[in-house]
Amino acid sequence: MTLAVRIDQHGGPEEIKLVDVTVGEPGPGEIRIRHKAVGLNFIDVYQRSGLYQLPMPLQLGMEASGVIEAVGAGVTHLKVGDRAAYASQPPGSYCEVRVMPAKCVCRLPDAISFETGAAMMLKGLTAQYLLRRTLPQGGLKAGDHVLFHAAAGGVGLIACQWAHALGLQLIGTAGSDEKCALAKAHGAAHVINYAKEDFVARVKEITGGKGVKVVYDSVGKDTFDRSLDCLSPFGLMASFGNASGPVAPFSPGILGPKGSLYVTRQTLFTHITTRESTQEMADELFEMVTSGKVKIRIDQRFALADVAEAHRTLEARKTTGCTILTL
Ligand SMILES: NC(=O)c1ccc[n+]([C@@H]2O[C@H](COP(=O)([O-])OP(=O)(O)OC[C@H]3O[C@@H](n4cnc5c(N)ncnc54)[C@H](OP(=O)(O)O)[C@@H]3O)[C@@H](O)[C@H]2O)c1
Repeated sequence: MTLAVRIDQHGGPEEIKLVDVTVGEPGPGEIRIRHKAVGLNFIDVYQRSGLYQLPMPLQLGMEASGVIEAVGAGVTHLKVGDRAAYASQPPGSYCEVRVMPAKCVCRLPDAISFETGAAMMLKGLTAQYLLRRTLPQGGLKAGDHVLFHAAAGGVGLIACQWAHALGLQLIGTAGSDEKCALAKAHGAAHVINYAKEDFVARVKEITGGKGVKVVYDSVGKDTFDRSLDCLSPFGLMASFGNASGPVAPFSPGILGPKGSLYVTRQTLFTHITTRESTQEMADELFEMVTSGKVKIRIDQRFALADVAEAHRTLEARKTTGCTILTL
């Protein structure tokens, strides 16, 4: 038996229950992992609330680190006793022990602690695929401007540092002056408090009227339309989240007059469908973290039993950097 966090129906944080569940042996292609720490992500809120509809009952959580306890047939990249970490589907990381597919589980370098591993896999692999794989025509080069919304959040602070390491001029938005200062301290070249400043006007001012080559937008409903107006001709609108609500339907016809823009909606889970691409992306993330170019900032820690409070805090925009659940 193990303690796990489950919901029986979509709804608010009050739907979250701590239950005892039975954990069996791993089948072919699976491992059993005993968690040391669990990562909290905004996608957990969408899966809990029902913005992303999933079958019930649902064990929540998409990210964790721990020690491999058992290995199923056909798994060759992990062995019993390995330190490991993952960002994965299916959900179910809010627990002490679980059985899960092995293909998205990576060995964690000794230099990276369990807490850091739990905090960084989903958010760091997201920063990786955005800045390294979600690019405008012709790619990005040092000195190029990009706009990154919610720059002081979990994904945001990693992206600020990674963009800085790539020589990009990242313009970060955040909802308070304190959050803006944090993004700046982590490598954002410019910051905009979008709670009180017109971010379109400020982007135009910062870029000398040219606009940015890419907007990375995880805020969704509140920022999508105005983000299009921040792009230079042929620029890329990379939507990857809905923290303020889903983006409203729009006509592709609006993209022509705004400068023949490109729009994409990305999800990490398309990038990590194979073991090879997951490991390739993870190796790059591990290198950024072990070299010190990206520091994983854990600003909030909650006990697993207090996960409902963790959700409330995340949804209320009261967090910065990463949040983990301790065991
Ligand atoms: N598609 C993918 O592959 C993928 C993968 C990972 C994450 N994501 C998305 O990336 C975003 C960041 O994820 P995260 O886990 O690191 O979360 P986070 O950035 O730490 O937290 C979300 C932030 O969004 C901002 N926000 C703006 N409007 C909001 C609203 N109405 N309600 C709540 N927050 C609002 C807040 O920052 P301010 O107060 O500064 O505005 C808040 O702190 C999320 O939207 C998530 O879904 C997508």
